[in-house]
Amino acid sequence: MADVRTSNLPDAETAPEAPLSPTHMAIRREDYRPPDWLVPEISLKFDLGIETTRVRATLSVERNGQHDRPLNLDGDGLELVAVSVNGQPAEHQMDGPALVIDIAADRATVETEVTIHPSANTKLMGLYASNGMLCTQCEAEGFRRITFFPDRPDVLSKYTVRMEGNAAAFPILLSNGNRVAEGKGGDGRHWAEYEDPFPKPCYLFALVAGDLKANRDSFTTMSGRKVDLAIWVREADLPKTQHAMNSLKLAMAWDEKVYGREYDLDQFNIVAVSDFNMGAMENKSLNIFNSAYVLADQETATDADFDNIARVVAHEYFHNWSGDRVTCRDWFQLSLKEGFTVFRDQSFSADVGSPAVKRIEDVRVLRAAQFPEDQGPLAHPVRPDSYIEISNFYTATVYNKGAELIRMFHTVLGAEKFRKGTDLYFERHDGEAATCDDFVKALEDASGTDLSAFKIWYSQAGTPKVKARLDHEGSTATLHLEQHEDPTPRQPNKQPMPIPLKTAIIGEESGAEICPERLIVLDQPKQSFRFENVSETPLLSINRNFSAPIMITAERRPQELDKLAQADTDAFARYEAMQELMMAALTAGARGEPVDCDTVIKAISATLKSNALDPAFKAEAILVPSDTLVAERMDVVDPDAIHASRDRLRKAIADARGEELLAAHRSDGVSGDDLSPKAKGIRRLRTVALGLLSAGDEATAAELAKAQFDRADNMTDRQGALGVLVSLDAPQRQEALDAFYNRFHDDALVLDKWFALQAAAQRRDTVDQVLKLAQHPDFVITNPNRLRSLAGMFGGNHWAFHSADGRGYKFLADMIIAADKLNPQVAARMVPAFGRWRRFEPKRSAMMREALERIAATPGLSRDVYEQVSKSLA
Ligand code: PHE
Ligand code: ZN
Repeated sequence: MADVRTSNLPDAETAPEAPLSPTHMAIRREDYRPPDWLVPEISLKFDLGIETTRVRATLSVERNGQHDRPLNLDGDGLELVAVSVNGQPAEHQMDGPALVIDIAADRATVETEVTIHPSANTKLMGLYASNGMLCTQCEAEGFRRITFFPDRPDVLSKYTVRMEGNAAAFPILLSNGNRVAEGKGGDGRHWAEYEDPFPKPCYLFALVAGDLKANRDSFTTMSGRKVDLAIWVREADLPKTQHAMNSLKLAMAWDEKVYGREYDLDQFNIVAVSDFNMGAMENKSLNIFNSAYVLADQETATDADFDNIARVVAHEYFHNWSGDRVTCRDWFQLSLKEGFTVFRDQSFSADVGSPAVKRIEDVRVLRAAQFPEDQGPLAHPVRPDSYIEISNFYTATVYNKGAELIRMFHTVLGAEKFRKGTDLYFERHDGEAATCDDFVKALEDASGTDLSAFKIWYSQAGTPKVKARLDHEGSTATLHLEQHEDPTPRQPNKQPMPIPLKTAIIGEESGAEICPERLIVLDQPKQSFRFENVSETPLLSINRNFSAPIMITAERRPQELDKLAQADTDAFARYEAMQELMMAALTAGARGEPVDCDTVIKAISATLKSNALDPAFKAEAILVPSDTLVAERMDVVDPDAIHASRDRLRKAIADARGEELLAAHRSDGVSGDDLSPKAKGIRRLRTVALGLLSAGDEATAAELAKAQFDRADNMTDRQGALGVLVSLDAPQRQEALDAFYNRFHDDALVLDKWFALQAAAQRRDTVDQVLKLAQHPDFVITNPNRLRSLAGMFGGNHWAFHSADGRGYKFLADMIIAADKLNPQVAARMVPAFGRWRRFEPKRSAMMREALERIAATPGLSRDVYEQVSKSLA
């Protein structure tokens, strides 16, 4: 799981990278050709060592089709020891990093032996060391850093893996599939052998060796098979694994019930590692996780952490079908597995929690992470047409917009036909490497519905903009819609798209749905839709539940939004009305126009007082949109003006409704280990209310926050309080930060929070604090979580990062340059913070461009960072 919010020492790399020129080649989707050679079977033998590992690979290769091209095996940083074909030393050449062998027959057995150096692997791709253990990460192109192989997802092989190593250093040896043999060697060594019966692409290969302990459990599948489950962690972390285990079992049952998908092996393993580039990885039967998505208890993890663990555990488990059993033909099809699997994990989280709140959270992520991508220089379609480095395409567009696309299919077809479609998809393509077109075809064939018009969502980048106006005359209302698609890089001319809009009309007086919800599909540049029997003044409720991932502006009568904010029968639309009310005030303020705070204040007050709403929804509804979201709405971005506007609105709310906020802040106590949606909602509202209060009287708010901090019996309240305190100028701020550090500094995941909270602080001196933290002994640039906590968080702190003196830009650019020498993937993911430089006021715009140019001019830049920076400047 890539994490969109939202995951290493240069001269330590043994094989220096070839010097990189700005001519890094683009790979194009239209150039796809089936593989020249297939590899039905592979046997791997590992002689494990932290510094040096020896890998012997035996490949049975088979010519694919009629051609006389040689066997071309990808490699990256491998030290070649020997090559043989059919048992004889073989002639071979190196073509750059690739190994090329001429083979006359149509079939052969190819053996290679290489050495690699896990502890020097700071890229965390291939086989690497983390906390004394060895583990692998192969997606997308890491397997070539382990052995020579056709490293592409459409080459599927059966794996046999033997690993041997020191029994004291590596008591536990794991790989994909079933453990079929084990034994002891001399010199305190031992070995184990695994066989995976399911052919898989090499990106799903995994190996783990280390001193780990398991939380064990089991799950009985719908056909009555018992599956042994194990979550492997360091011994001290065992008590923090129960939530992940519970989540796994829930996910297994859910996939049976909702998709009819049963687990297919007798074992399922999850391993937690502390150094990991992303969220987690779906290797067949051996999922490897960033420990942040496994470990949790009430003292150290927030409610959001618990939810994220459930989400990511489910996501990786769901990949067993949507990703492993059916995989991708090529990396352009990445959304085939990721968009679909994100949609599946979103549906799961909605089902086990609160659907309305989950939808609000998902849309917030989409708007904060994907919309900016779609509007900026790095915009790309859900199914990209070209890439320089595929790691740069694990994006919110491929994941989250991809999930929205699948959701639209679900909406248009309805649950039943959608399920028929996925059944057919799994049946038709089981054991294959498929394409996005194959997926749509299965939905079409099973449902008898033509979805061809919708395919443009795969190929056309950019967020559609829709304008809506409702006319009312007599008893008829007419909805006039217009859509527009802005040009994006390499796509200057756009086609109109089919946009499914769930729409209803609410009566202004009655508050009832006078025209019940219906699904309208806008597929022309301009279109009108009629509603009959409109007997009262109509309120337009449109894009309900966010049925299409678009930006919509409705022409509204005065007070229409206020009324929808209280009366809309769709929870998401009701939330949306609140957000629109606040957004109107915030953007007006940022432009220096008069601001109507009263309307917002009244709406917030009514929301807080409502008996019909639960606390979780209230918390979401009264949350003032972030600086980043406001910036998205401005033609020219002035971060100081936006920040000041937001502060003014928050202060007006706090001054006018302090007592109601205080009541919400104090709402009934729930115990910290109560993880029900209700209890989580109460905690969330407690901190959101505190945040608003802190915009009023700072001293009182600091007292309240410190009290919440001191009293907290759970990390949600503690982190919530500290998150408010860090932005205040009060003595309690440093007291709480120190107390937090002293208590938790041995827990890496909690220490990440300590860094992240300070990097996210809304203060004039945040840049100074962040510069200091970068010198802190606990700041470890090689650990992706720590780097993201400080530099990644700071890049998302709109006001501080865009500080007028340009020091925020300098800091992040320096970090990107330093990190790139160690871990290009993680470094490249921090570049988008600079991406939208063209939209800023001239001074900042120029400084952002200079920062990008300075990164671009750095000698030896990785392909990853090169691609992001050059595209940002283009
Ligand atoms: N395939 C992983 C997921 O989304 C994400 C990932 C990609 C992890 C690349 C590591 C490396 O589940
Ligand atoms: Zn995934």
